[in-house]
Amino acid sequence: MSKNFRVLASVALAASLAATSACSSTRDEGSTDSGASASNLIGIAMPQKSLERWNKDGSHLDEILKKAGYQTSLQHADSVEQQITQIQNMINQNPKVLVVASIDGTALAPALEKAAEKKVKVIAYDRLINSTPNVDYYATFDNYQVGKLQGEFIVEKLGLKDGKGPFNLEPFAGSDDDNNAKFFFSGAWDVLKPYLDSGKLVVPSGKKPASNDEWTKVSVKGWKTETAQSEMDNRLNSFYTGGKKVNVVLSPNDSLALGIAQSLESKGYKPGADYPIITGQDADLANTKNILADKQSMTVWKDTRTLGDQVLKMVDSIVKGGTVEVNDEKTYNNGNKVVPSYLLPPVVVTKADVKTKLVDSGFYTADKLGL
Ligand code: GAL
Repeated sequence: MSKNFRVLASVALAASLAATSACSSTRDEGSTDSGASASNLIGIAMPQKSLERWNKDGSHLDEILKKAGYQTSLQHADSVEQQITQIQNMINQNPKVLVVASIDGTALAPALEKAAEKKVKVIAYDRLINSTPNVDYYATFDNYQVGKLQGEFIVEKLGLKDGKGPFNLEPFAGSDDDNNAKFFFSGAWDVLKPYLDSGKLVVPSGKKPASNDEWTKVSVKGWKTETAQSEMDNRLNSFYTGGKKVNVVLSPNDSLALGIAQSLESKGYKPGADYPIITGQDADLANTKNILADKQSMTVWKDTRTLGDQVLKMVDSIVKGGTVEVNDEKTYNNGNKVVPSYLLPPVVVTKADVKTKLVDSGFYTADKLGL
């Protein structure tokens, strides 16, 4: 072997080892069941494990893809930067498809440009990816409907259609880097706005977005429970003195609802007739237990198993070169294009139907809920 060839070979080997070690050094979460260039590798990029639902989403999708014969690389990230690095590493492994639940849907354009160059198809999972043409499909639950169900629940429970009121409302919205959050808020606010305008709903804290576009005025960064709790503490301390009580809290999801309930409890609110209506989303375990204990009124359940199943169908169609089934080609414009989407229906769960919906479906076991 000539000297030059040896040099080239050693440089190439060093480069590939460096690339592999670079991949492994940032492979801090999740599993990769594949070699560097698996022929049927599927990348799964999920947000932080600290938000309960993403653990279920990630493990279910990983399991059914493996069962279907795919190799997988599942990674959870705690920051946007970490998720970008994980996605870049996955792309270097030449996956067939990338499934991405983005932490920040506006931050992935450069990474996904690389995916497009390598003909890697991208499915946005649950959260739309914005400001890039390089997202091919979107699989989610109907996000606007999630908010609408929360708003309608409040209207029905308070008897607003019967002219009841005024009631004291405190609204919250999700993280301002999450494209879903504006859909959740808009769905609810479109239902509640007439009652805010008529004075049947009032917001003593003054944190009342004048329109759906002002939803970020009440957003909670990173969907953090502790942030929601301290925000609720502030509102209660500042605007609910002299016996004034909160009657209803619009919480877009369960991680916020948990903090809000903890705040209310710390200020002496107890489950019962005067306890505020609190909405939620995701049927997280702690919140489902709170619903059973009358500390939360409802959650909007998104059976993440069905979302994973739908994504598997999309992956199969992409890999086999078939037509990918979608049911919405108008709602989700990501700033570059309307992304063909498949929307699943969300479901309201209250104390009365925890068993029939969450236990009988196998989402939770009875003993996990203390039933
Ligand atoms: C949203 C997701 C919701 C909510 C939130 C926190 O994008 O659709 O289910 O839980 O993130 O993870």
